[in-house]
Amino acid sequence: MLATDHNQEARDCDSAEMPILAIETTCDETGAAVLVGPGAGSTAVIRVLSNVVASQFDLHARFGGVVPEIAARAHLTKILPVIDQAVVEAGLTLKQIRAVAVAVRPGLVGSLVVGLSAAKSLALALRIPLIAFDHLEGHLYASQLAFPERIVYPCVGLVVSGGHTHLYACEGPLEAAFLGGTIDDAAGEAFDKVASMLGLGFPGGPAVERSAALGNPRAYAFPRAFIHEERLAFSFSGLKTAVLYTLKGKPGQLAAPAASPPHIPDIAASFQQAVVDVLVQKCRQALANTGMKRLCIGGGVAANGAFRKALQAMASRDGIELFIPPLDLCTDNAALGAIAFEKLRRGLTTPLDVDVEAGLRRSPA
Ligand code: KG4
Ligand code: ZN
Repeated sequence: MLATDHNQEARDCDSAEMPILAIETTCDETGAAVLVGPGAGSTAVIRVLSNVVASQFDLHARFGGVVPEIAARAHLTKILPVIDQAVVEAGLTLKQIRAVAVAVRPGLVGSLVVGLSAAKSLALALRIPLIAFDHLEGHLYASQLAFPERIVYPCVGLVVSGGHTHLYACEGPLEAAFLGGTIDDAAGEAFDKVASMLGLGFPGGPAVERSAALGNPRAYAFPRAFIHEERLAFSFSGLKTAVLYTLKGKPGQLAAPAASPPHIPDIAASFQQAVVDVLVQKCRQALANTGMKRLCIGGGVAANGAFRKALQAMASRDGIELFIPPLDLCTDNAALGAIAFEKLRRGLTTPLDVDVEAGLRRSPA
């Protein structure tokens, strides 16, 4: 086994602040960040010196979703300039970087491989430790990065994005246990698909939210899957179908000539409300089941104003401490690699023969 035989270097800066480079290429954002944080025994907080994200938005927009092959190729062309930019913006040189962190799961294999290859090359060339991290673990740790003065763990964590709608019970940053997740689409994916049905554009979340602001959330009684059930699971495919039928009528039926055509903002608002109700209710259940009193949210759907408002209302009603990082730390970005400091603190560096994993680990840590 090829091992990073550079752990000595990590130990050398135990009590000093050490700059690390973090790389994120799990899906369609090419991200690199330089973070400084504490070695073992230090109580310094983690600071983000630079956080560069090259979005592939334009490449995927016309397909209405992320095309894996296009994403992988775009990462290849962007990864080195993005890393360069992150190091320059941090005011450092590569030689000053003391470890390289990289998201190795879950995600699109072709995309993950680009980030991991870059990270391994840097670890080898610079003779510094490699630290692989789980993208979902990183999303949850963004709350601790954003609110260093507050105690975040133990907490229930919800990652809700274009690829994930997953609940965890997190005893600590590296002790996340899977509680339940979607059995079909992720909530963000449902926003994207519904936006496309409604002709609102891509990415769908912000477009649906803008349209919903002009509509009535009670205009259509859309399904809220599992909302009255004990199990911590989500399903959004029935909701998507309900939106489709509202627009086009059921298959085999001629859509009855409507007195007035469906009002797009009403559909957007009713759809959004259905998603929000389910997400908030399942967070409540997870909090009740675990007895935990803190809730942290990660992922792009956390940008949704109606969702934030509903979470805040639930949290103040139920006496829950709520953590929602600023938007640039909620969406995919390489500062999610701050979790690497928790690993460094425990001496957990990664052998250089580590591989990517497309799938979700039930217990990321
Ligand atoms: O975390 P993220 O940047 O990437 C991953 O999917 O991992 O999340 C992107 C997702 C997209 O599906 C997008 O439509 C959704 O987050 N999103 C929103 C909003 N802004 C972004 N969903 C609802 N409301 C929003 N304002
Ligand atoms: Zn993500």
